[in-house]
Amino acid sequence: MAQQNIYDNDAFYENFKSLRSDEINFNDIIETPILSAMLPDMKGKKILDIGCGMGQHAMQYSNAGAASVLGIDISEKMLGYARDKNSADNITYRRLAFEDLNRLDERFDVITSSLAFDYSEDFGKLLRDIFALLNDGGYLVFSMSHPISTAYDGTYDRYTRTQDGVRLYANLHNYIIEGERHFKWVVDNYEVYHRKISTLINCIASAGFIIEECQESMVPEDIANEHPDKFGGVVHQPDFIFFKCRK
Ligand SMILES: C[S@@+](CC[C@H](N)C(=O)[O-])C[C@H]1O[C@@H](n2cnc3c(N)ncnc32)[C@H](O)[C@@H]1O
Repeated sequence: MAQQNIYDNDAFYENFKSLRSDEINFNDIIETPILSAMLPDMKGKKILDIGCGMGQHAMQYSNAGAASVLGIDISEKMLGYARDKNSADNITYRRLAFEDLNRLDERFDVITSSLAFDYSEDFGKLLRDIFALLNDGGYLVFSMSHPISTAYDGTYDRYTRTQDGVRLYANLHNYIIEGERHFKWVVDNYEVYHRKISTLINCIASAGFIIEECQESMVPEDIANEHPDKFGGVVHQPDFIFFKCRK
């Protein structure tokens, strides 16, 4: 079961917090610019941010003129940071797992999620629950790990390399087989769910959404060259996939 509360584990939380706060981090350099460019106008809108973490996105939507932002997350530690550092009058943070979205009795104009759906065991149900929470014409805009990057089991090097360690190819492992994957990321036994791209698209479509846009992450060449250890492999494989879906 990947409904882990790993973000409440002290060591994981501290490591994640330091990665997320690093000046050059995947979220701010890669994820957020792509997701932000896909968002509809947020002015005056009721927003739900699922897996809001430390609240950076909630604050961004508040600053963009949202009428209200509800950030939900299962981790008390992440919510504690969000309440402390990313508060505003129109932001509310609430502890709620996305498996329990049906407990919300309000509707939203825009639902967003950044890198939280990797932990969803039942992606089809999650999409149906989100569809039910949106007003007609509302948008779901989300990012998650790209299926190419989760087709990996952690038991071998992610890359085929030259003798000097330069990344030549990204390796795939059992792309076709879906389900839990464990590998080393911040902790030794990090868990996510791997799904095929077709499964993501079919779950979105069968929930009733129209897909307006899909993006795959890439890194500006100068940043990849400047930080080869962090971003050098990104030319071989996208780390994240993004969807903009309309109800
Ligand atoms: C990689 S972090 C991303 C946080 C934030 N969205 C950001 O972009 O910085 C993933 C977040 O998803 C949350 N999460 C994991 N499983 C969840 C679940 N079942 N329900 C709600 N939140 C969950 C974690 O607690 C964590 O805050």
